[in-house]
Amino acid sequence: MSKLTIFCFTLIFFVSGVQAQEITFAQASGKVVFDKWCTPCHGRVAGGLFGGFGANDLPGTSALGVKYKGDLPAVLEDRTDLVPIYIRTVVRNGLYGMPISRKTEISDAELEGIIAYLTQPR
Ligand code: HEC
Repeated sequence: MSKLTIFCFTLIFFVSGVQAQEITFAQASGKVVFDKWCTPCHGRVAGGLFGGFGANDLPGTSALGVKYKGDLPAVLEDRTDLVPIYIRTVVRNGLYGMPISRKTEISDAELEGIIAYLTQPR
């Protein structure tokens, strides 16, 4: 292999590495925003205290548990079926017990980060 070929492969390796990092950055920053605004209602509840007391305290997780009765995960972060338009619509318009989030609270860019995080391949 010539030095030029090796150089080209190295270049491709680094360029593709940088692109992969960008995607990861969107997802990672989305997780930070998600943890701040969504986890208080959609977090993961472990068994609760004293054999279950308080296990269903989080409004989002418990409402989705009731809604899907176990057919889909109650924890949003475990879902693999969520699509961007649905997440965007629910966050901006609310849904039953879920309040709307204004752009002054969650900017469009932050919402896209949340979407990248929730729809990342798992
Ligand atoms: C005050 C509590 C609360 C907060 C904060 C909240 N949610 Fe929700 N969310 C809910 C509830 C309750 C539901 C269930 C609505 C229903 O009964 O269909 C829900 C439902 C949803 C759904 C619909 C799931 C489905 O299968 O129908 C999505 C998507 C969602 N939330 C995303 C988010 C995101 C993203 C955030 C953060 C920006 C967020 N929620 C913040 C309470 C909340």
